[in-house]
Amino acid sequence: MSSFKISDSVYSVGILNPNMRIFDIVMSTAYGTSYNSYIVKGSNKIALIEVSHASYFDSYLDNIKEVCNPEDINYIVLNHCEPDHSGALADILKVCPNAEVVVSTAGSLYLKNITNRTDYRTIIAKDGDTIDLGEKTLKFINAPFLHWPDSMFTYCEEEKVLFSCDMFGSHYCEPYVLDSRIAYPSGYEEAFLGYYNAIFAPFKKFVVAGMSKIKNLDIDTICTSHGPVLTKGNRLEYALEKYAEWSVLVKNEVTTIPIFYCSAYGCTEKCAYAIADGIKSVIENACVEVLDINAKDASTLASKINSCDGFAIGSPTLNADAVAPVSNLLNCIDAINCKKKPALAFGSYGWSGEAVPNLIAKMNTLKLNVFEDGFKFQFVPSETDLKNAFEVGKRFAEMFNS
Ligand code: FEO
Repeated sequence: MSSFKISDSVYSVGILNPNMRIFDIVMSTAYGTSYNSYIVKGSNKIALIEVSHASYFDSYLDNIKEVCNPEDINYIVLNHCEPDHSGALADILKVCPNAEVVVSTAGSLYLKNITNRTDYRTIIAKDGDTIDLGEKTLKFINAPFLHWPDSMFTYCEEEKVLFSCDMFGSHYCEPYVLDSRIAYPSGYEEAFLGYYNAIFAPFKKFVVAGMSKIKNLDIDTICTSHGPVLTKGNRLEYALEKYAEWSVLVKNEVTTIPIFYCSAYGCTEKCAYAIADGIKSVIENACVEVLDINAKDASTLASKINSCDGFAIGSPTLNADAVAPVSNLLNCIDAINCKKKPALAFGSYGWSGEAVPNLIAKMNTLKLNVFEDGFKFQFVPSETDLKNAFEVGKRFAEMFNS
């Protein structure tokens, strides 16, 4: 990729990574991604907004050089310090000796350990602060938890451009910078939703707060940090509408307590149904789905475990632990919004039975409201075991009535 002129004074100098298939170790990216970065030229000064991934430094620097001499850059604005945006900072500072790094207060706390350098000047941008580039002004808007504590937006009023950091982004990569030339709209929409679900869904109330901070701004262009640049009349309105729609906080109409399980020989499965019956005997109208983890896709399960009022999760013991699909599902829990959610562990075991205590330890780490010591039984559940499971379900359900 080379540089691209977005307007008279705004240039894209970011990097395309069409072959990326897993982002941040866990997030699948079927359409690749981009590490967007921009230059804003005023009549007196130049700002570089966002940096880039460390791995692509040489190509990134070539893009910058197409627009300006790096030595002429006065400000490097980091809307967010995660390494996909800050990884190349330490190297870029070597070729931009006159640049001051502009970050939020929270960002300033991270910078030292991200660059492992202290030999540069920083400016801490407070909410509403501005920098005059000469006929172009950059205004900084703190946007905490969108999606890190350090996140902020940068707005250029004269150009009607919002640099929105990760918000409104997508892991979607095509040769074109602008959204007016998206070749596969359905692929883009899939990537845009997937990105929201992975990055912003845990922070809905902060999305609502961030949207209200920008709602009165005159915006023609949103320069995101990943994926196409959004423009009025193309995808800009779509992005704003979808974020508003997806971020409405919805309460379950009835108490929703799914039971997730894995079962090799049907023993843990039988217990799952007995617990479900126990719950329903206490809360008649509860929605209690019994879900075989191996029969559902990961995103459906993640959505259910994060949106429910409480859940039970069952695993047999294998190799002194819970089985991997069960552990993986717990790893999908949004630890911020699921704090204190009631949770019950259960499962069959052969001779040692570590699965249930290990699940409980993990659930405690997530600060869930863990029910008793869970419920485990040896080998095939007897009538007594199933009665006990039913009683456990009843007692668990009482947590929701209190
Ligand atoms: Fe694109 Fe949160 O980094």
